Amino acid sequence: MTERISFTRYLVEQQRDHGRIPPQLRLLLEVVGRACKRIALAVNKGDLGDVMGTAGSENVQGEVQKKLDIIANETLIEANEWGGHLAAMASEEMEGIYLVPNRYPQGEYLLLFDPLDGSSNIDVNVSIGTIFSVLKKPEGHPGVHESDFLQPGHQQVAAGYCIYGPQTTLVLTVGDGVAMFTLDREQGSFVLTRENIRIPEDTKEFAINMSNMRHWDAPVRRYIDECLAGETGPRGKNFNMRWIASMVADVHRILMRGGIFMYPWDQREPNKPGKLRLMYEANPMGWLVEQAGGAATNGKERILDVQPTQLHQRVSVILGSKNEVERVTRYHQEP
Ligand code: AHG
Ligand code: MN
Ligand code: MN
Repeated sequence: MTERISFTRYLVEQQRDHGRIPPQLRLLLEVVGRACKRIALAVNKGDLGDVMGTAGSENVQGEVQKKLDIIANETLIEANEWGGHLAAMASEEMEGIYLVPNRYPQGEYLLLFDPLDGSSNIDVNVSIGTIFSVLKKPEGHPGVHESDFLQPGHQQVAAGYCIYGPQTTLVLTVGDGVAMFTLDREQGSFVLTRENIRIPEDTKEFAINMSNMRHWDAPVRRYIDECLAGETGPRGKNFNMRWIASMVADVHRILMRGGIFMYPWDQREPNKPGKLRLMYEANPMGWLVEQAGGAATNGKERILDVQPTQLHQRVSVILGSKNEVERVTRYHQEP
């Protein structure tokens, strides 16, 4: 019988045998995993629980909040605030940063999350997820400020997501490749099911919301036009398209079988750099994709090198199979 390695054991071994993660970070990741299990339970209840539909409120970005956006946000906060491993948290669903209350010990890490990604898919029973990113609080001053969070993605010390789909799967990087854990519901624990996930460098599959085509910039339009031209076009091959509208599910597919995902800047709101959020979506996903041998850019530069200036900053995102991402990025540089 092949040995089953639980998420807990994987983290302990990363700490003890490989020295990759300090004890506080191990605890943090363990707690995030536990919170994701709790969110998965809420997601699975559907109409049997009070979890569907809108909450009747808006987040700081003016998006209508679903009940599950709030449940997932609260679950992550409650699970993480008391353990002593965190200094503060930031979430897509909260305007400012969340400081660990004074009654609990303060740790040295900062946790950022998109508690529920793919909100528009909740009520239609399509895959959704939780995305998280971990940074270290900069040293040299007491307390925590919002500016402590404004670190480029290459400074992340851990990143991952949990997808609530036909299976509940947690995907993690601590800078040593990408590992995947599947939730065993009978045991109530995540079990290591894949290691060293690699994204093929070439692909015949793209993911983009085609309904925005008329608003795109020329380089994106050129790339997609060439894909659509198929076998007799400049690419000399036929492409397939997928768009789930949950970044977590689109990125998961790319990690499993390759592909390119784009949510580019477009002309609808010229002053908005993109739709997706740098700190909660693009950075963690960008790092996971790079760790699996793929690439992630905003058309001009590597996502992980973008210097954030605001917590809720948006960014244009092109990620996935290396050769395709490089091609689209090159199209942005050509006149
Ligand atoms: P969220 O549910 O956290 O607001 O994120 C939704 C994001 C992302 O997951 C997805 O790729 C994209 O929005 C879908 O946008 P469209 O509905 O414009 O296609
Ligand atoms: Mn999201
Ligand atoms: Mn969200």
